Order: sequence, then structure tokens, then C-alpha cells
Amino acid sequence: MAKKIISVTVKTKCADIITTKSDLVAVAVFSGEVKPDPLCRQIDKKLGGAISNLMEMGDFKAKAHTTAVLYTDGKIAAKRVLLIGMGERAKSSSDSFRDAAAIAADRSVGLKAATVTLAFHAQMPSGVGEEIAGQILAEGIHYGAYRFDEFKTDKENGRLDKLTAVIVDGKAGNVKGLAKGVKVGVVTGQAQMYARTIANQPGNVINPGTLAAAAKKMAAGVPGLSCKVYDEKQLKQIKAGGILAVGGGSATGPRMIVLKYKAKSAKAPTVGLVGKAVTFDSGGIDIKGAAGMDEMKFDKSGGIAVLGAMQAIAKLKPAVNVYGIIPSAENMPGGRSYRPGDIVTTMSGKTVEILNTDAEGRMILCDGIDYAVKNKCDTIIDIATLTGSCVVALGKYMAGLMSNDDGLLKDMQAASSRSGEKVWHLPCTDDYLEDMKSKVADLRNAGTTRWGGASMAAAFLREFAAGRKWAHIDMAGMEIFAGHKNIGCDGSPGFGVRLLTDYVMNVAK
Ligand code: BES
Ligand code: MN
Ligand code: ZN
Repeated sequence: MAKKIISVTVKTKCADIITTKSDLVAVAVFSGEVKPDPLCRQIDKKLGGAISNLMEMGDFKAKAHTTAVLYTDGKIAAKRVLLIGMGERAKSSSDSFRDAAAIAADRSVGLKAATVTLAFHAQMPSGVGEEIAGQILAEGIHYGAYRFDEFKTDKENGRLDKLTAVIVDGKAGNVKGLAKGVKVGVVTGQAQMYARTIANQPGNVINPGTLAAAAKKMAAGVPGLSCKVYDEKQLKQIKAGGILAVGGGSATGPRMIVLKYKAKSAKAPTVGLVGKAVTFDSGGIDIKGAAGMDEMKFDKSGGIAVLGAMQAIAKLKPAVNVYGIIPSAENMPGGRSYRPGDIVTTMSGKTVEILNTDAEGRMILCDGIDYAVKNKCDTIIDIATLTGSCVVALGKYMAGLMSNDDGLLKDMQAASSRSGEKVWHLPCTDDYLEDMKSKVADLRNAGTTRWGGASMAAAFLREFAAGRKWAHIDMAGMEIFAGHKNIGCDGSPGFGVRLLTDYVMNVAK
């Protein structure tokens, strides 16, 4: 029986943190400040100057993402104090506090400290209210507590099964606001944990069929969320030529998963979220090199982001109808594979000349986008680990964002800054489309040059949005470099769950 992920509980409490019992109290410390914050000073005093000692000795400089642990010997109610370096106060943002909460949870899990208390929301930048603070901290706590160890059979030194985090504030009014935000943060935090769990599972566990089964199971547990799966036969009926072409070479056939959340009001707008779920991308006949090919188990992450976001959205119940459309295939070489030179008729009716079987993401996404168009989505957002070019352009810190609509672009950028899942605007103008036109079909699946690959891929996808408001997120760099902040565990960070959920929640406002 596979190990379960750590169960996380986030609570709020109206109390004095100094007298609140816990295994660990997390304290945020900014660098270069002579007098740390009031809470820190208070604890320092109780511990006989242990914190100032540590800082004077230079053992802890409060640089961002550094930590130090102190043992309290009963001088305060918590057993341990975790100092979390925040870097300079002037450079801090709400993201720094989400990270700090994640670090608090991560180190608690590492120390097997089952209860952690925190009160550093009081130091968040002015303008961040209690509600947002509660959401951000709850998200961070879930993020940091996550471990991918279900395939480890080692039973020794078993890690925590359960972590309880308590956000403490002395004012009842503040606690009320915090609690409201925590409710939301728990939903997105758990959805992201769920997404990471599936994204991390390897290709011999998750294939299009098992992914569809997982989606059905998840949807069955969330009231108001429905899930329909198109198998290979049904994909033929709806003429999903792109998905069928990519999935042809695999022993585990392709699927299209369609999740649906319906708003109460009939007048609500409809958003389509379309996520690429290539459960393993070998490249197909144009096979990839050996180096790093294992990372291509993460090529389903866009689809998983949609899956996680749909879970959160259905729980948060915005006044928006939302489709979660997840075309899924395994890209493998074999006797039934699609090949370079093939001309594929996609679900939209547009034909595509295959120049490279490794440009498979756009071949499944174009059918997913067309499905959204046919189901009357007013706005369509696709998300995918689409191009190596995007990784070259933006590295591991940001995903590419392309759009055909300035308003949607702004809304996505706003969702990005609130959710802390970063995106950067890249072009997808007609110039790039020129490179994607074929002499023998309507389009070609790979450009005539390798330059500007992320923009060419986006220009290709834009053609399938049929003039609807459309945005595209190329998250290729987000999954393969996960763990770079040294918080929690390596593997998928579940990128996109918070971003997509935040976007949808704000469409309703
Ligand atoms: N899944 C890859 C993109 C990718 C690369 C994701 C690196 C994560 C890290 C995608 O299917 C792919 O192979 N794209 C090709 C397209 C090319 C053949 C036009 C690429 O980017 O090289
Ligand atoms: Mn590929
Ligand atoms: Zn791929």
C-alpha cells in the first residue's frame, strides 16, 4: 500500500503566541535590521538573548530562505523556535511570506514537529489584509509540507503523517479575517498537493487511461464537478485527429478528459481551461536523446494543473461556468506511430503537416481548444509544457504568457502576481504564424526555423481559438527545475493550480 501524502490542517487561534503550546514556533526575521520585529524581540528576551547572540555571532544573517533552530528549554510554550530569513524588508512581497510559511512547514516535517505556530502575517507588506494573508499562509504551509515518497518502501525513521499549523493573532477581529482566507488557501493548497502527487507519478503508473480514472475518482469526491472521458473509440467519433495521431504509437491509448463546473446563474460566462497531458514524451519517431528524457514524465503537468484547478474551483464555487479539458496521450515510437510527413486532419477540420513528431503538444491541444470553442467557451486558456524554446527564453523562474486579447493578458498578469506563479508576456503575432504555414496542408506542426519556438507554437494554437479570447501558458521550465528554492521536495511544484484558480475566481468579481 502506497504511503499517503502528509495530511495538513491549518487553524487560526486568538491567543498570545508566546504562551501557545507547539512543537515549533516559526519567526520571520529580516536581514540588516538592528531591531528585529516585536515578536522576535520578545522571544529573544525570554530566551535570555539567544537570538541576538546567534545573529551577533554571524551564524544567522536572515538571508532569504535560510533558517536556524533554537531550543527553548521551557522558557516559552513552544519547544523550538525556527528563525526564517526573509532577506531585506524593502524587497519583501507577499510571495516572500508564502515562501516563509512553506519553509516553516518544510522544516517542521523535517524535524518531525507535528504542530507549528506562526504569527508573522503581522509583518506582511501594508495593504495585504488578514484575509489574503490567511490564504497565502495556508497555501505556503501545504506547499512546504508536501513530500513525494509514496514509492519509498523504507519504513525506518518514518516521516510525519500529519502536520497541524496554527496561525495565531491576539486580536479577535484579525483572527476572523485570517480564518476566512485560510478556508480558501486550504482549498488551493490541497488542490496543489493533489496535482503534485499525480504529476510526480511516473509513466508506468500514469498513462492516459489511469489519468482519466484518477480524474473520475477525484471528480466523484467533489460535489458539483462532473467528469466525462472520451476513449479512443469516442475520440474517433468526434474526429479528434490530433489526439489520435499523437496517441497512436502507444500501447496505452489516448483519452480526452472533460471536467465541468456549472455556476448557479444561467447568465454566467464560460471559461475553458485546456491542459496538455502527455503522460510521457519520448519524442515519438523523432525520438529525443537519452539525457533528461526521464523528465518527460512531467509532460502531463499542464493537464494536471487544470485537474487541480478544477478541484479548487468546484469547491470555491465562483459565478463562472468552467470546462477543464485535458487531452491526454503517450508519445511513443512504434508501428502505429504518426510520422514526419503525415498530414493530420484535426477536430477543427484544419489540416496539419507533421514535420516533427516531438512537436506533439500542440497536436493534442488544438483539439482541446477546438472542443472549448464548440462548447461555447467565451474565454479559453491553455497551459502546457510546450517548448524547450520557452525554457531557453525564461529559464526556471517564469512561464511564458501569450494572448490574442489585451484585457485577458492583464487579467492573467494580475492573477499571476496574486498567486505568486509567475508569467512573462511573449509575442505570438502573425509574423510567427507565417513560419507555421505548410505548402501541402493548412499548417505545419514545427516551424521553418528553431528561433522563436515558443512564439511559433503559440501562433499555431491561436489559429484554433476561432477568435475567442485566448491565452496560452508555456510552463515547460516550471516542472523540470522544481525544487530550486530549496523548499520541500524535488519534483513537480504543481505550477498553474493557483494561477488558474485565481484567474477564474476573479472573473466572477
Ligand atoms: N515536451 C516538450 C517540451 C519540453 C522541453 C518540456 C523541455 C519541458 C522541458 C515538447 O513536446 C517538445 O518536445 N517540443 C519541441 C518542439 C520542437 C520539436 C518544434 C522542442 O521544444 O524542442
Ligand atoms: Mn515533444
Ligand atoms: Zn511534449
